[in-house]
Amino acid sequence: MTREEILLLQRVQEPLIAWYDGAKRDLPWRKDVTPYRVWLSEIMLQQTRVEAGKDYFLRFTAELPEVEDLANVPDDQLMKLWEGLGYYNRARNLKKAAGIIVEKYSGELPSTYEELLELPGIGPYTAGAISSIAFGRQRPAVDGNVLRVVMRLLGRYDDIAKDSTKKDVEAALLEVMTVGTSHERPGDFNQSLMELGATVCIPNGQPHCEDCPWKDDCVAFAKGIQMELPVKQTKKKRRIEEKKVLILRDEEGRILLHRRDEKGLLAGLWELPSVEGSVGAGGSVGAGDLSNFVEICDLTEIGTAIHIFSHVEWHMTGYTGTFRLTGSGADAVQPYASAGASRGGGAVAEEGRPYLRDVKEEEARWILASPEQIREEIALPSAFKGFKKYISE
Ligand code: ADE
Repeated sequence: MTREEILLLQRVQEPLIAWYDGAKRDLPWRKDVTPYRVWLSEIMLQQTRVEAGKDYFLRFTAELPEVEDLANVPDDQLMKLWEGLGYYNRARNLKKAAGIIVEKYSGELPSTYEELLELPGIGPYTAGAISSIAFGRQRPAVDGNVLRVVMRLLGRYDDIAKDSTKKDVEAALLEVMTVGTSHERPGDFNQSLMELGATVCIPNGQPHCEDCPWKDDCVAFAKGIQMELPVKQTKKKRRIEEKKVLILRDEEGRILLHRRDEKGLLAGLWELPSVEGSVGAGGSVGAGDLSNFVEICDLTEIGTAIHIFSHVEWHMTGYTGTFRLTGSGADAVQPYASAGASRGGGAVAEEGRPYLRDVKEEEARWILASPEQIREEIALPSAFKGFKKYISE
């Protein structure tokens, strides 16, 4: 960035924060601001829009109000609280980091950017957001909103998908924050940039330039190029996987679920079983270890769905049907035990925490679960959203 650009950013900080004071949205994490709540909200907002994020945040903080609660939460409860947000490793990293905060920092989040950056799941954006919003430190927090707003203000055509662009903006804002209102109120400065990006200088469709506190300073607005900016190079094409997704019921109406590998996409989560092979007439299923221990009958096609991940697309065809266990099946498949139901030697549920915490299930790859258990206790990834209604029928 040039000296003139830094000076422009320094000049417009004051009107931006004044605008924010009047226009900021009433959001749950902006009340009762604590480092833990700021951290949670920032991680959640990397996964979802503010409107949807509110409900997740309220549920999460109601069930896990303190860092210690997060450090000790059973994995299945954590996954259920995160259900639908995607990138489940973010939730696992939250728990891991909470464990470290309890052990190393006596349950209080560290306040410096550098210490925060050491924690699992906390990168430059989140470390900047927590240290500025919760601890008043002069650190930028550059997300997509901030990149867009800055590129438009300065009328720059840098590719915002590039790390170097993000680093340049971070360095510029770090310098901006050495003086003025952003120095006095770094958290509000960062949030005002995000807020401007979310509500005025919006990503899709015409930005609301007439309402913008920067309309007299914005290079893109003056030149009429706001719709051309920011420039973002598109990523590589996604790989497509064709899948046949099976909703299989036993004679008691329980559904067969599979636990995914501990590594990779949707790691360790329960899913509806699927096969890549063909589904023949009369309901025979081709490939997959499924056919080693179950016999499937009466398959009916129920429709198709597409789910888009960052690098893969699942093109799914759903089927309902019935099954019975054969051969080794009785050993391979376990009934899902709610933590509420104490089984011989199994874990006993804590009041109000009706989640699975039985080591046996932690290790199980295949389970049978009732529609109610799936609804109430098991986190089923959003990829299967389109087929969920067939589970309860
Ligand atoms: N997006 C991410 N963090 C945010 C925040 N603190 N306020 C508004 N939008 C956000």
